[in-house]
Order: sequence, then structure tokens, then C-alpha cells
Amino acid sequence: MTPPRRQHLRRRTAVLATVPVALAALVGAAGATAPGSAGTSGAGDPYFPLSGNGGYHVRHYDLTLRYDTSSRHLDGRAVLTVRATQHLSRFDLDLKGLKVTGVTVDGTSSAFRRDGQELVVTPRRTLRAGRDFRVTVSYEGTPKPVTDPDGSADGWIPTDDGAFVAGEPQGAMTWFPANSHPKDKASYDITVTVPQGRTAVAGGTLLGQRTEHGRTTFRWRESRPMAAYLATVTIGTFKVEQYTTHDGIRVYNAVDPREASAAAPVLRKLPSVLAWESKLFGPYPFRSAGSIVDHAPGVGYALETQTRPLYDSAPDISTLVHENAHQWFGDSVSLTAWKDIWLNEGFATYAEWLYAEQHGGDSAQKTFDALYARPASDHLWAFPPGDPGSGGNIFDTPVYARGAMTLHELRKAVGDRDFFRILRAWTAGHRDGHGTTAQFTRLAERISGKRLDGLFHTWLFGKGKPNSA
Ligand code: ARG
Ligand code: ZN
Repeated sequence: MTPPRRQHLRRRTAVLATVPVALAALVGAAGATAPGSAGTSGAGDPYFPLSGNGGYHVRHYDLTLRYDTSSRHLDGRAVLTVRATQHLSRFDLDLKGLKVTGVTVDGTSSAFRRDGQELVVTPRRTLRAGRDFRVTVSYEGTPKPVTDPDGSADGWIPTDDGAFVAGEPQGAMTWFPANSHPKDKASYDITVTVPQGRTAVAGGTLLGQRTEHGRTTFRWRESRPMAAYLATVTIGTFKVEQYTTHDGIRVYNAVDPREASAAAPVLRKLPSVLAWESKLFGPYPFRSAGSIVDHAPGVGYALETQTRPLYDSAPDISTLVHENAHQWFGDSVSLTAWKDIWLNEGFATYAEWLYAEQHGGDSAQKTFDALYARPASDHLWAFPPGDPGSGGNIFDTPVYARGAMTLHELRKAVGDRDFFRILRAWTAGHRDGHGTTAQFTRLAERISGKRLDGLFHTWLFGKGKPNSA
């Protein structure tokens, strides 16, 4: 189910303002130092037009949550530190479902209304471009996942002992108000209170944990920029393990006991996988790492939640390699548009091939050949990975497998030395930031000194099965 489009929200006009909004605008005009206009209701991504918002950048999210695992009720307070990128008379946050009980801007209560997945906030005064302001949203209710265009559930997914919380591509809005597009990254403080005996795991560092009156509060901090879809607070009955690697990375693993015996031999390899990936891709981009292994039958996927991937069951080694490769490709270097998704999935898939090649498995060439042998009618060739066409295709085989094949073609064209130089220059040059397909192809040409437009055109953008391998 795709959320209904609300075209009118994208127009910058005051004519559509409701009465309370118009009143607030008048009040605002009296004290305003500059005329402002409404921020857009989307970040401009054609695959998910209402994801993210325009007119501001969120610098920090401070979320305080309390979840009752038996009633499935969530109480939340989100304090966002935001920088206006234009004079703002009004702005949107993404929030789906839940009841908003109050909104303040810089401590003053503000008019707000709900419009589909948009929480529309009208501050009393125009917010000046380039200045920071603080928005507080109080909310509560029973969070429910959204259904993505590919039919999968995304967001807050209740489990028998808590919740599996994933947000790619659009589920962050099911549990906190956000500028929910990877274009806008922020640091996060997440404080979660759950019934004693349950553990709530987010990304980053555990600052503290305290039990009082039958409830335990966990305080998490991720200080490196993070896209909203990479945030989690997965809750369950978990066995927890913590240690520091030789490289000084703090590891926190949380494992559902039902998955523990299957997960143990794979999780044990995490430090060596991170060390191996660091050698190939450049220094690990974060200070903490780990795994959340939930027992969430029916989810059907894992997610590269920042610093601490989330698995719906015990992962195999390929999945562990894949999700941790995303820490470089997707998490540290993020997308500016969902159509560039091969920069995440093609790279993480190629990491699996490389791992197999260097750990006694098939060579990447052999994996490539087996895929290339598939007939032209195979779904693998249904659409080109650099232009999946719609949000429903972003997690499909052509993105993962043909995306990885593209990298293998690049590697053959430029040789191993330049290939890995390109990967490391990519992660170093765009660390904690963003990258586009065009920037990647230019970088590959610059480092190799070769013309690669034909290769990329064929493998990333050509329709159907490419002619020559
Ligand atoms: N990025 C995840 C991976 O590592 C896949 C997420 C799929 N999400 C979804 N809503 N279908 O492959
Ligand atoms: Zn992936």
C-alpha cells in the first residue's frame, strides 16, 4: 500500500491554510523578523515523494520512549535540534499513526495538524534561515508498521516479546517524528524504558542502564551522523554480550535465546569480519559495533542499522558480512536518492563475494559467471540496477546481484589495485556524508585514468541482459 499523495501540500501558498494555521500565521507575522514560506512536504525523492521534508536540516534527535510490551503502548517525546535552511513559516515532519499531544518550537506551544504521514507545524514566529530552533513533539499510541511498495513490513513491528524496529526505506515515521530521508543525517540520543527483564537496543554506545520500580531504562547515543531509517530500538528478551575489539571498537551483541546456538558461531566472527572489511574498505567508520539477533519470524530481512545490524533470526556468515559492509556503504556514505540504492546493495553484495573468495569459497568470477549464465528472460535482467524505476524495486535481485556484477566488471577493467583504491577513496572522501552514482563513476575514472562510461552505461543503465561479460 502506498500512502496517498497529497499534491497540494507541495505548493507554497498560504491560501490552503486552515483557520488555526492562518491565525498562527498572523500572530507570527506580527513578531516575525522576516517573511517565510512553508517547507516542502517531501525531500524531492520521486520513489517516496512524502519521505523527508524541505526547508530544514535536523542536527540532533533526542528521543525519550517508554514501551509497554504487553499493551504495546508507546509514549514518546522527541526533541529535535533543527537548522532552518530557508525562512520558514511552516514545516513538516514525517509521522504516521500515533497521537500527537503537543508540539513546541523553542519552548512555545505551536499549532500543528496531521495530514497523512505529515505532521504540519506552524510556529508562532517565522524561523530564520541559518538559525537553529528546537522542536518538541509529545506523542503516544500503538505503533504499527507500514507496508512498503514491495509488500514487506517496515517500521515498528511487534514481536511476541517486544518489537523488531527497522526503518528502511520509510518506517522511521512509525515511531518518531523525523525528516525521514537519507539526505538528512543527524546524531541521536535515545532513552528507552521497558519492563524489567526486557532489553531495548539502539545503535551507538550504551551510556547507562538503570532498573527502578520494575522497569529498566537504557540510554543510547550515536554521535555520528545517521539517516533516520538506520535508527532502531529493538526490544526483546535478549542475552547481552559486550567487549572491545583489538582495534578499540566497542561491541554490543543482543541475542534472542531462541536464536543463540545458531548465532554464536557466526557472531564470534564479527571482529575478524570487521578487521577484514577495514583492510579492504578503509577504517571502520564508527566507534561501536555489534548485532541484534531477534526472533521475528515473518519479517524476512535483515537491516544494517547503524553500528549494530538487526537480524530477524540467526544470520549466516554472508548476511553478517553484508550488513556490516553497509556500515561503510550506505551508513557512513549515504544515498541522496533511493534510485541510487545499488551504491548500498550492490556493494554489500559484492562484499559477500569477496569474503567467499578470500575465505575458501567460490571466486567472485565464479559467482559472476553463474549469474551471467542465466537466460535473458531471467528476472535478474528485469531492470537496470542504476535505474530501478520505482520504490517497489529497490530491494530486488537486479539491484543486489547485477549491482555486484557491475563492481566485478569494474574490478576486471581497472585491476585489483585500482579497484580497492577506488573503494577506499570513496569511503574516505564521503565519510559521514553522501555519495551519488555519478560521483562514484567519476571517481573510478579519475583513479584508474580509464574511460569507464561504456562499462557503467551497459551494466548500470542498459536495459536487458548486457551483451558481453
Ligand atoms: N537493506 C537491507 C539489506 O541489507 C534490506 C532491507 C529491506 N527492507 C524492506 N523493507 N524490504 O539487504
Ligand atoms: Zn543490503
